[in-house]
Amino acid sequence: MATDVHRTVTDQDAPVQSGAPAAVRVQGLTRSFGGRRVIDDLELTVRPGEFVALLGRSGCGKSTLLKILAGLDREIDGSVLVPRRRATAFQAPRLMPWKKVWRNVLLGLPGRPPRSRAEAALEEVGLAHRSEAWPKTLSGGEAQRASLARALVREPDLLLLDEPFGALDALTRIKAQRLVAELWQRRGCAVLLVTHDVEEAILLADRVLVMDDGVIAHEAPVALDRPRDIADPRFGELRAELLDRLGVEATAPQAA
Ligand SMILES: Nc1ncnc2c1ncn2[C@@H]1O[C@H](COP(=O)(O)OP(=O)(O)OP(=O)(O)O)[C@@H](O)[C@H]1O
Ligand SMILES: [Mg+2]
Repeated sequence: MATDVHRTVTDQDAPVQSGAPAAVRVQGLTRSFGGRRVIDDLELTVRPGEFVALLGRSGCGKSTLLKILAGLDREIDGSVLVPRRRATAFQAPRLMPWKKVWRNVLLGLPGRPPRSRAEAALEEVGLAHRSEAWPKTLSGGEAQRASLARALVREPDLLLLDEPFGALDALTRIKAQRLVAELWQRRGCAVLLVTHDVEEAILLADRVLVMDDGVIAHEAPVALDRPRDIADPRFGELRAELLDRLGVEATAPQAA
């Protein structure tokens, strides 16, 4: 990693740069692994309260970008401005097996937060009745909701979701998508959702981005009323446009 390049990582509560306020502002971001630039001079702005979905072929750098925004990877060049209060949920729920669900929800919070905080977050995801359970006794969907509760308890201004529904069966996935849409509308936080599912991106997001060659190569605003109707011809047009950008034939199955 070159050391003479400008490098800044800043946490902030209320971004007050010139121009419109932003929940995320990334400028000139570069991240290399073994001399290979996975992220290469990337620019990204997410507005406060905006729901952004991020698509891109496997290995293009989506999780790398999310980890940087989460503050888990600081080996970067460029400038990254994110809210201090942010939370992440990954594809695998990553619950500690030796702690009950409610303790998992509070894990990593500063001080000694009361159990009622965990209960409130679990209530929000419809999991209050499993508060006393051990993680290994949860279904995949329940574990994913516990992971969401753990993110929500942090009251984030930015919620980072890395393929959170990837391992769920189709029905559970639809329920989880609705839950995230509800939570986002209630909480008003900005969301950056990484997904491989073009339909999921269009159903949920205000704006869909496609990452390629280390940058945001394409962006599509989703100007459709919510709740969205997959049968709407404009939905189909947008799906075809995004699949094309991903290099997938529009007639192929609708996951990239
Ligand atoms: N810690 C690391 N060390 C070396 N290479 C890494 C590391 N993390 C990621 N990479 C490489 O960077 C590239 C991007 O990885 P990343 O996990 O960001 O992809 P992705 O877009 O999230 O893919 P997927 O859709 O499969 O999850 C890959 O080629 C990966 O092998
Ligand atoms: Mg990934």
